[in-house]
Amino acid sequence: MPLYRMDDLMIAARKNGAALGAFECWDSLNVRGIAMAAARCNSAVIFQATPLEYNLMGGADALADIVKFYVNKYNIAAALHLDHGSTIEHVKECLASGFTSVMLDASVYEFDKNVALSREAAALAAECNASSEAELGHVGGGGDGGANSESVLTVPEEAAEFVRQTKVSTLAVAIGTVHGDYVGKPELRLDRLEKIAASVDVPLVLHGGSGTPKDLLQKAIKLGIAKINICTDINKAFLAAIDGAKGKLTPSVPGTFYIPAVEAVADKTAEMIKLFRCEI
Ligand code: 13P
Repeated sequence: MPLYRMDDLMIAARKNGAALGAFECWDSLNVRGIAMAAARCNSAVIFQATPLEYNLMGGADALADIVKFYVNKYNIAAALHLDHGSTIEHVKECLASGFTSVMLDASVYEFDKNVALSREAAALAAECNASSEAELGHVGGGGDGGANSESVLTVPEEAAEFVRQTKVSTLAVAIGTVHGDYVGKPELRLDRLEKIAASVDVPLVLHGGSGTPKDLLQKAIKLGIAKINICTDINKAFLAAIDGAKGKLTPSVPGTFYIPAVEAVADKTAEMIKLFRCEI
């Protein structure tokens, strides 16, 4: 089964009133768990990794080969996406390895520099018939604080101009989520999301899905979010399963420790897929 463009899968999900989960990949075990979940839920899925994560696996080409192997083994519809690339080199190496979507994250820069870098990445992706993602506004980490401060939230009035100038195929928005654990109560600016969705015609992405209350995620999906990034929640499930296996399983057969971890990733991923289909 060939990999799909990420935007095509997102548009199809949205037609069904759903969003797709985009799950972080850091080794072959969690790629397998994500693929198992997608097969069990009969769902499309997005595999994604940052340069740090795919380099852990030996490079973008290593991740691409592993993902393609499990996509074929489990016969699932999937996209492979570069998450938070920070250089044009990241974009090029992922496209050369067969990724079907790339994000060059220039969201820390001011509007014009963000436009210039995102436009370059989007053009490279388009040459390879891949989709692209850029971020307007900035989704920080939970510890950074101020996820709802004016300085980081996406300005709805800028969104359409950003998409027009960059020609990106998907847009990540900052509406109050954070990467990693929240400090304090998560609050989403759904009013902003509604305005952004009304002004752009590309599907929207929400970073920092972990720990965000389910009802807020489902409201965001109804208002236009078509992809939700999940890392921390599946990583926590993986680590908790390994902790739980210690003392019960013998270290002289190390592989056994990881069997519950793969299942835990599959279970958590399946839960998210159902949540994003608004089934639970
Ligand atoms: P979480 O770790 O909060 O799920 O965020 C993941 C993410 O947005 C990756 O880009």
